[in-house]
Amino acid sequence: MKRRSRVPLYLLAAGTAVVVVAGLLGSLSRRDRPDAGEGSPPTPVVAPVSPGGAALADAARRYIPLADARPVMETLRGHLPGELRGQNDAAIESVWPDWVASRDAAIRARVQRGDEDSLVFFWYFGTSFTNLPPVTARNAPGLGGPEAAERMLQQRLDRLLDALSVPGADERVQFARSVVERRGISPSTPAGRAEARRYLGEIRARVVREYDEHQQALRSMQEQDSADALAGFATMYRERGLSSDTSVLAAFAVEQALSDLRAGGVLGDGAVRRAAVVGPGLDFANKDDGYDFYPVQTIQPFALADSLIRLGLASADDLAITTLDLSDRVNQHIESARRKARAGQGYVLHLPLDAVEAWNPELVAYWARAGDRIGRESQAIVPPSSAGRIRVRAVTIPPMRVLSVVPRDLNIVLERLDPPSGMRFDAIVATNILVYYDAFEQALALANIAAMLRPGGILLSNTPVPPTAGMKLSERFTTVSYSARQRDYLFWYTRQ
Ligand SMILES: C[S@@+](CC[C@H](N)C(=O)[O-])C[C@H]1O[C@@H](n2cnc3c(N)ncnc32)[C@H](O)[C@@H]1O
Repeated sequence: MKRRSRVPLYLLAAGTAVVVVAGLLGSLSRRDRPDAGEGSPPTPVVAPVSPGGAALADAARRYIPLADARPVMETLRGHLPGELRGQNDAAIESVWPDWVASRDAAIRARVQRGDEDSLVFFWYFGTSFTNLPPVTARNAPGLGGPEAAERMLQQRLDRLLDALSVPGADERVQFARSVVERRGISPSTPAGRAEARRYLGEIRARVVREYDEHQQALRSMQEQDSADALAGFATMYRERGLSSDTSVLAAFAVEQALSDLRAGGVLGDGAVRRAAVVGPGLDFANKDDGYDFYPVQTIQPFALADSLIRLGLASADDLAITTLDLSDRVNQHIESARRKARAGQGYVLHLPLDAVEAWNPELVAYWARAGDRIGRESQAIVPPSSAGRIRVRAVTIPPMRVLSVVPRDLNIVLERLDPPSGMRFDAIVATNILVYYDAFEQALALANIAAMLRPGGILLSNTPVPPTAGMKLSERFTTVSYSARQRDYLFWYTRQ
């Protein structure tokens, strides 16, 4: 734990830089993959729902009231969107409902652009639709230089288009096809294939441009050490599509922060009965540390339960986790896991770790134990040798634990749940999400989080956001070292 004022800016930036690392694996046909829950008895499960869990599953969802947004507008007068800037109270009151509804729709529309980004990463790095080597930063030199890498990318595109034309049962390919179809393109016809090729080329050009701009912005921020640069870092993805990427690294970071909170006396034994994950994400296509040789999965809700129980902050039989996400794909994935759990099927979590990266030994130790408090070790899918060196574990999470995770559709910038008092969350985790918003939107999100936390409740976020009435940013924070070249910071906020 260190004092916040000592965080060097360039280190902050290093934590969330999109470092496209390599090492992704060869293909594995669907029939080689064990189904989630293989081996679980097919006995229908009715979860004993804790009162807290039930209250949150049914809690009303509503837009942020103007009264809660007013203090934010006061503090961030210079950062208001055009429609709200320079208006008197009466004018703001009259435009507020329309502004909230239209901003909600605009934010939700960004999911589509994030889906397109995932398609590009799938094309570059995916191993489930082709045996061709992924084109990653690590193995590009071995392919024989930029022209050879470009030729490989075009061959990979041909394989991807083949897969899109006959998608079969693979959920990633089905999803990729649905993204293309949303544009009115049918990749099964020769004309549609040509259109799909053009469309993917356009998305690729945008993603590459955004990546270059991001790198440039990072460099310029690393050269400064000012408040502006810090604000720039904290809102770095505000124009980006909303991506769903996730990996075991975020789970490690949260466990480290919870351990610090416990050591610092901020959270004690059994302090958490109700926790929320804002933006749990889906591990879909390999970008930084995700892979596609196992089924699409969400990690954070289960990893959070595992960490809370390991640290004694929650009891295994009295913990309800609510996920708050605006992505239908994320919410439907968790709903589907719950449906299978009700039929007696567990959830298999794959935990991959690149064996080439020089990870911090604490991260490796975390990876080796993750899931042991909530599930049982099971047979992991073996990555193909063409994949390079990778370690992988699998943990099967029993149906009861799966059913303790309840997804709610929610845009944290503009919406909140309204649980009965006494049923508010003890802890909320929001990693790699607030960075997608500008300072005003972040402050609104913090106001919504404040409204859902009990007094003394904790928010953990790796984005330093402008403080909001009712939420106190701690001077202490957690420094998380993943490896010599990757680190992150988790900030602690306490509900006053
Ligand atoms: C990049 S992923 C991060 C996943 C995970 N928290 C982690 O740290 O690995 C961002 C997640 O936040 C969700 N998200 C983005 N904006 C959101 C919003 N305004 N409200 C709720 N969820 C949001 C996305 O759908 C996605 O699931």
